Amino acid sequence: MAKNLVIYYSRKGENYVNGSIKKIAKGNTEVVAEYIRDAVGADLFEVDTATPYSEDYMTCIEEAKKEAKENARPELKTYLDSVDAYDNIVIAGPCWWGTYPYAIFSQLEKLDFTGKKVFALMTHEGSGLAGSERDVKKYCKGAAVGKSLAVQGGSVASARPAVEAWAKKNLI
Ligand SMILES: Cc1cc2nc3c(=O)[nH]c(=O)nc-3n(C[C@H](O)[C@H](O)[C@H](O)COP(=O)(O)O)c2cc1C
Repeated sequence: MAKNLVIYYSRKGENYVNGSIKKIAKGNTEVVAEYIRDAVGADLFEVDTATPYSEDYMTCIEEAKKEAKENARPELKTYLDSVDAYDNIVIAGPCWWGTYPYAIFSQLEKLDFTGKKVFALMTHEGSGLAGSERDVKKYCKGAAVGKSLAVQGGSVASARPAVEAWAKKNLI
């Protein structure tokens, strides 16, 4: 059986849910990561920044915009040293201004993906996969890139069947 890992970032606090801002205890991407774990078995690694992004939605929007402009690499609380133990690695995160939060790249740049299979997974409110697949190809050097998955964040509660079907078909 394949060994699966999900590397994900997911933000708690205020989030945009079907047209209005709500406070949520668990981020959308984390919910999706757990669906994958339930479907096929997977270790989860949460990317967690040393300085948290703001819980306030509008402040976080500005923080993310600045990060993108500066091509930032925010410091993380802990880093994963290696993905040697895994066959498949899913890179999961929300769409922030067209791609992952830059904290994901802080982690990806520290890993050697040679010989692994990687997958882009993005939760979003309309942008779909956006730049996720492009950036997975860019930052996971040496890996084969499998079929990507986009999940609308506001509909995450009803997305379990689609996520499970994708995981069972691709994480083999
Ligand atoms: C800073 C920020 C920027 C965002 N930018 C986009 C965007 O460009 N396109 C989009 O479709 N959704 C955007 N969103 C919505 C998130 O991608 C969506 O709510 C996602 O599911 C959040 O995942 P999380 O709860 O795991 O953090 C943005 C949200 C935030 C907080």
